[in-house]
Amino acid sequence: MIELTKTGIDGLDDILNGGIVKNSTTLVSGNPGAGKSIFGLQYIYNGVELFDEKGIYLSFEENESDLRQAAESIGFENWQQHVDEGTIKVYDKQALLRENDFSAALELLLDDLDDEQYERLVLDSLTMFQLFFEDEREKRTYLLKFTDILRENNLTTLMTNEQGTVFPETDIGLENFLTDGNIFLLQTPTDSGVNRYVWVAKMRKQNIDTDIFPMELGQGGMKVHQNASAFSMMSEEDSPI
Ligand SMILES: Nc1ncnc2c1ncn2[C@@H]1O[C@H](COP(=O)(O)OP(=O)(O)OP(=O)(O)O)[C@@H](O)[C@H]1O
Ligand SMILES: [Mg+2]
Repeated sequence: MIELTKTGIDGLDDILNGGIVKNSTTLVSGNPGAGKSIFGLQYIYNGVELFDEKGIYLSFEENESDLRQAAESIGFENWQQHVDEGTIKVYDKQALLRENDFSAALELLLDDLDDEQYERLVLDSLTMFQLFFEDEREKRTYLLKFTDILRENNLTTLMTNEQGTVFPETDIGLENFLTDGNIFLLQTPTDSGVNRYVWVAKMRKQNIDTDIFPMELGQGGMKVHQNASAFSMMSEEDSPI
């Protein structure tokens, strides 16, 4: 029997057939502004608010106050309260980059995992995390080592990745293969703004719906709509070109 971790995001758990496989690592890819950080914040926030599961948010991109503002602007009012109480543990850019190398930053995290039981972790972003390493080989070795540590500590993880969709000729990065799940957040410009979509491309051990579903970012965070056909990305009239 496979245990699932619910995202608590409207519509998304249905597409995932219940949630994300516990102890797995999922890569969340998308272009700038696609909603990766909001997804990560919401996953951690819902964990505490709805499921009584503690979370860790590692940000190589933002400071604690930026995260707080982003969370509060989207309606996650109790974000800071959870941070203060320790149910959400934030390692921000400042804390992570203060360490000279990845091993030192990892020690900080490991100490914490010894003291406290956390269920969820977000790494935002893998793209920045990789800057710790000098070459591809070292980067991959550490990514594998890191995902092992997360699994050993029973964490269910989202890693964000600055990568557009793999339609149809883009290179697929090794990180897509090294992770258990791949979710893409897409956006296409329209006359009045932007249409947003989510595509769950892979989830090991799970029977998922691989259609592309429309989604919205707004108050309350991300919402996924089920009526995929009504918003087909491929239809002529929706096409951005
Ligand atoms: N409070 C809000 N209300 C409505 N929409 C918002 C709000 N905050 C952010 N957004 C929308 O979400 C988008 C940014 O989402 P997010 O920061 O999660 O993107 P990202 O994929 O993490 O981008 P990056 O790669 O630059 O980090 C914004 O461009 C904006 O359109
Ligand atoms: Mg971001």
